[in-house]
Amino acid sequence: MDRRRFLMMSGLLPAGLAGSGCAVRMQVGASAAVGENPFQHGVASGDPLPDRVILWTRVSPVLPADGSSAPDISVEWWIGAREDGRSPLRTGRASAEAARDFTVKVDAAGLEPGQRYYYGFTAAGHASRVGRTRTAPAGAVERLRFAVTSCANYPQGYFNAYREIADTDDLQAVLSLGDYIYEYGNGTYGDGAAIGRVPQPVHEIITLRDYRLRHAQHKAETDLQDAHAQHPWIVVWDDHESANNAWNGGAENHDDSEGSWSERRAAAVQAYYEWMPIREVPTGLYRSFRFGELADLVMLDTRLEGRDEQGAADDVTLATAPERQLLGPIQEANFFAHLTSTQQAGVRWKLVGQQVVFAPWTDGKSPFNPDSWDGYRAARQRVLEHIDAHAVSDVVILTGDVHSAWGMEVPTTLDGDDSLAIELVAPAVSSPPIGQASESLRKMVENAPAQRGHVKFADGMNNGYVLVDLDAQRARAEWRFTGPRDVRTSVSTLGAALESRSGSSRLS
Ligand SMILES: [Fe+2]
Repeated sequence: MDRRRFLMMSGLLPAGLAGSGCAVRMQVGASAAVGENPFQHGVASGDPLPDRVILWTRVSPVLPADGSSAPDISVEWWIGAREDGRSPLRTGRASAEAARDFTVKVDAAGLEPGQRYYYGFTAAGHASRVGRTRTAPAGAVERLRFAVTSCANYPQGYFNAYREIADTDDLQAVLSLGDYIYEYGNGTYGDGAAIGRVPQPVHEIITLRDYRLRHAQHKAETDLQDAHAQHPWIVVWDDHESANNAWNGGAENHDDSEGSWSERRAAAVQAYYEWMPIREVPTGLYRSFRFGELADLVMLDTRLEGRDEQGAADDVTLATAPERQLLGPIQEANFFAHLTSTQQAGVRWKLVGQQVVFAPWTDGKSPFNPDSWDGYRAARQRVLEHIDAHAVSDVVILTGDVHSAWGMEVPTTLDGDDSLAIELVAPAVSSPPIGQASESLRKMVENAPAQRGHVKFADGMNNGYVLVDLDAQRARAEWRFTGPRDVRTSVSTLGAALESRSGSSRLS
């Protein structure tokens, strides 16, 4: 039995497509344009709104022997209520093209709020796996659960957090706060040889081709692929999707010998948009999601949009300079207006998905982390003043980047005992926890809760993710720890759980 016939009989090809598959085959000219396994990078969905969601896949072409670029490949997509794909609600046709590395992105509209859907793709008679997704709910919402992740360095460990997320049934969405890939060559930040996870390409990624290959390697990874197929994702990049400690005009890990920053940055951004299930909007990463009356989520770009260059770790004068920007003036104005309107609309929880630690998390003196909001203190103060002046309540800042787990209140000053928001920092999926990388950082994290009253929980020794669970009364955070990163596991342990009562901006 050939694969197409099997798929039709087993119901994996939507009934509506069973008759049109030959047309697809004819339209691409020759089925040789795709190989036997054209969907080896899986499927993904993302950026759920009440009536639409992004669907993503990639079709692997068979490249012509003469070195010319492969022709466009016609792809059919479907989305519907049934996992077997029968009676799909919407179907359509898209084109996988060399200009987008044969990735396909569809904004499937006309859906109902708060519903689970299944989706899939076919090309040249081959069907993709079936993905599962969920639209954002509208109106009254009882409960929402999100998994929050960051920092998945491929050569340094298994994606155990993604495995568990893939096996979790009831998430509204997965939030990926950056360092979804890393730019380094093998051996620079972990050698993957020992666990069979040598990065591709093996050298540091700089060109568009490099960034595409690195993304492709991640999308071929089983645990990550399953997590994408199971839930919609809402993603932002951090620095390593381009280069370490990136800012608007450069990066720590970029110099002139590697070409121009603007070209490298453009390559990184292009590959990201090709390979990630993110809606492509004029405001870039900055966008927002409403989950009925229970929660709003705004995603920020603290990296490439408007960030001034990082200062030195002991330069308090620069860190406190009023003109320094982390978001840039346009994004900052959008963000502030959004917080105010969300408060006025009566939405309970205001989630802020962003990259770098917001609250003062080291001693604020010297040395501090100049890459976090500690290095842009006037910008942080403007956020806090806006929250205060407009009485924006129940703000939950979600953070990645620092390979450690933190639960913090957010005081207006370093020594203040007030709090205007809470911050939940996700540990790394597979990058080395900072406490394992450095003895002084281990002590800094260990001592933080005793030294600073607003730090309610800190852990610098574990990998994992944060589960955020919301209802009208409280926001609950569970830090799930996934064990040694060089061992494949699928079950986590509870590292800590903290709750914030609505209206309190406190964590206990
Ligand atoms: Fe990271």
